[in-house]
Amino acid sequence: MAKLHLITYGCQMNEYDSERVAGLLAKQEYQLTDREDDADLILINTCSIREKAEEKVFSRLGRLRDLKQQNPELIIGVMGCMAQLQQGAILKRAPVVDLVFGSPAIARVGELVARVRRDRRPVLDTGEAPLSKLTATIPRSDPLKAFVTVMEGCDKACTFCVVPLTRGRERSHTPEAILEEIRGLARQGYREVTLLGQNVNAYGHDLTPPTDLAALLELVNEVDGIERIRFTTSNPVNLTSRLIRALRDVPKACEYLHLPLQSGSDRLLARMNRGYTRARYLELIGELQETVPGIALSTDLMVGFPGESEDDFEATVEMLERVGYDNLFAFRYSPRPRTPAAAFAEQVPEGDKARRLTRLLDVANRVGAEKNRALEGRTMEVLVDGVSKKDPRELAGRTRCNRVVNFDGQGRRLYGERVPVRITQAMQHSLKATLVPAETPKEALCGLR
Ligand code: SAH
Ligand code: F3S
Repeated sequence: MAKLHLITYGCQMNEYDSERVAGLLAKQEYQLTDREDDADLILINTCSIREKAEEKVFSRLGRLRDLKQQNPELIIGVMGCMAQLQQGAILKRAPVVDLVFGSPAIARVGELVARVRRDRRPVLDTGEAPLSKLTATIPRSDPLKAFVTVMEGCDKACTFCVVPLTRGRERSHTPEAILEEIRGLARQGYREVTLLGQNVNAYGHDLTPPTDLAALLELVNEVDGIERIRFTTSNPVNLTSRLIRALRDVPKACEYLHLPLQSGSDRLLARMNRGYTRARYLELIGELQETVPGIALSTDLMVGFPGESEDDFEATVEMLERVGYDNLFAFRYSPRPRTPAAAFAEQVPEGDKARRLTRLLDVANRVGAEKNRALEGRTMEVLVDGVSKKDPRELAGRTRCNRVVNFDGQGRRLYGERVPVRITQAMQHSLKATLVPAETPKEALCGLR
């Protein structure tokens, strides 16, 4: 049997695509291997969001040159966003590559690999294709939690972002296709699904008849066996009161929202073409906190966007403190090919970006730690998913607000179960807790529904 080694960079959507590719190739008798020196086919699923992500791929390809010399039959392919953005340039810069294909071509992966094998010539396929829900897959890396792509692409035009170039326009999968996939996951024992889309809260506007994410959450809520539903990434522009109410009213929808802010400065938000102001964003946060008390919030922030002054940057720090994010991802702005911001004047020196990032992360750690401490003494529901990284005698799991909790399971077999625990101590990146006696009446447990 031929062997496939799959390397995945980037976001959860790439993880999902890699599972499809492995599933499709399994039908052609490609078995997955962890070892690249054992493989007949190596595929790298790539990310273009920042320059660093692309550099990692080129240096990995450089290291694969020796392997190809030892085994000239080895086929090396590059797929995903970088394939779509850089296209033929990849073959030029890394002649070791035999195959380049974008995400629309995933359904054809078997045919593309066969063509390389037969013709012994590089193959490039970065064309468009109609959206289809691929059912082929392999077991997910986590047996309890699965990602499910519900829509592809992005119709926005943030001036820094390559996603509209790499993933195309917004196209939603039908609720029927999504539900079928999720029912299958439930039958296999999965307990939690995360619905994925670059702009997931714009879900459904392109379908006939149109629908929305709130309606989809209600449908997924009906799937027996699935206990928790998450979704990412939401865009502030498309965040409706209806979706906010669904976070409160749909029992399995977790009280957690990732809502990228990018910058706290109105001047920069306008230059980024984000479509909202700081005041509008705060209004949404107010509505979220009022409608879903205790909701956990996370965000993406960027430092060093062209023209960012110290004052603009401080406005971002101030927003971070004001909103009180539970978690965040912060990035240095990275100019990307074919995006408007790459040509903007006033690019910020790398030294300033690095200094701002360090300061931002310091504040984020302090704010996150305060939020963690506020949970001490609370009783929360944990979905048990394994043992503690530090102490294998302890069980580990996540709260509905996605925090890691470690606790003494008192010898009980709780894997895959939802149990109430009382938070005893907030640590830097996790919470310590104790099991709450089973006889505690459910109504008395805050954080449980
Ligand atoms: N769809 C999401 C973003 C997807 S990209 C949204 O609505 O915001 C994930 C994150 O990467 C973005 O939120 C942004 O913070 C960061 N990012 C995107 N382009 C970037 C660039 N050119 N340089 C640095 N960070 C970038
Ligand atoms: Fe990118 Fe903006 Fe869409 S960050 S993914 S263009 S919403």
